[in-house]
Amino acid sequence: MVIKGTLTFSGDKSISHRALMFSALADGESRISNLSTGADVQSTRKCLEACGVEIKDEGNEVVVNGGKLSDPIDSLDCGNSGTTTRLLLGLMAGQGINATFIGDDSVSYRPMNRIMDPLYQMGLKSKSNDGKLPITIRKSELNGIQYKSPVASAQVKSAVLLAGLGASGETSITEPVLSRNHTEKMLSGLGANLSTSGLTTTVSSMTSPLSPFDLAVPGDPSTAAFFAASATLVPNSVIVLNRVLANPTRTGVFATLEKMGAAMERLNQWDEAGELIGNLKIWHQPLKGVIIDENDVPGLIDELPIIAILATQANGKTKVSGAEELRVKESDRIHALCKNLKKMGADIEELHDGFIINGPTPLKGANIETFHDHRIAMAFTIAGLVTNGDIVLDHPECASISFPEFYDVLENLKQ
Ligand code: S3P
Repeated sequence: MVIKGTLTFSGDKSISHRALMFSALADGESRISNLSTGADVQSTRKCLEACGVEIKDEGNEVVVNGGKLSDPIDSLDCGNSGTTTRLLLGLMAGQGINATFIGDDSVSYRPMNRIMDPLYQMGLKSKSNDGKLPITIRKSELNGIQYKSPVASAQVKSAVLLAGLGASGETSITEPVLSRNHTEKMLSGLGANLSTSGLTTTVSSMTSPLSPFDLAVPGDPSTAAFFAASATLVPNSVIVLNRVLANPTRTGVFATLEKMGAAMERLNQWDEAGELIGNLKIWHQPLKGVIIDENDVPGLIDELPIIAILATQANGKTKVSGAEELRVKESDRIHALCKNLKKMGADIEELHDGFIINGPTPLKGANIETFHDHRIAMAFTIAGLVTNGDIVLDHPECASISFPEFYDVLENLKQ
């Protein structure tokens, strides 16, 4: 079996969430195409609709009529989506909405203090379950703050900036390492008064609504990474990935693949609506181990599960450190990777903030605990391409959180 083909992906999950949210703040009609088909983005859509935003499907486009948010009657159900929860908490706080946020078991265990702390400092009246969901927010007068975030998190940064749109004066946030910058790029493109200097972004109170827009969402590099890995791992494979988001805050996985010795060619790159997009060709080549530290982590945080799989087949040592954030994702991904990879015969050592893998080791088939985590399910499915024996996932359906088409697309590439 080899992996061969050309793929164009549905839209990037981070940009899709933001496109829906920012069009909800814009005064008038926005048209979005190639929106992510994942369940997380549907959660954002449903929450916005519950707040009175009119969103309809028209052919390949999603049409949003924004500008008029109202209090929802029922709780806002954020499903499995941390991005929906954290960004909407900031956005709704800034817009003076009264709402209660709930989510599934995974989101309900994830830390929300990281955004509630700055929102309290801004003057938000709210009640939480000891820093976790359910969280109720009450319409409050917000004041701008200068916030120094202890974590490099685009969700924290975005929540603070979105609340800042509705706060008096200026709101700024400084992060320890640059995280994905889609919020900054999109908001300033849509007319917000926003500036970035080094690791600090400052936004002023919104004096007029954002401008409505048309956007074709670029392909998701986090999804593309699984297919890039499949072609890298399986001898004689070659794959072309078209129209993938190439924003440098998101392409750490491709830079890492290159450091590992992967065979890759950037066919062309262009700019669309302020974001870099590109086509990539990747083919099989033996890999070597790589060192990833806290400065690299924000640029490839969601890709560490698939990087771990690649590392088991790479020559030498791979060390990932400074990645304690992996413990508070959709699952504790360090634990999920170590537990499952050990079962498969990999040489992996768990660290509090990462892992060490010595490769290459042959992998054997196993029953995989996904912990209902889409990226664990997809990473171990790709591992299954090179195992001796079958990989059986306990909850394969969780891949639909970001890419419902994952298994079909992979099957079509097998020749
Ligand atoms: C996201 C930010 C990241 C990432 C998540 C999406 C975003 O989370 O892991 O999948 O769209 O802002 P953190 O901000 O918690 O690192």
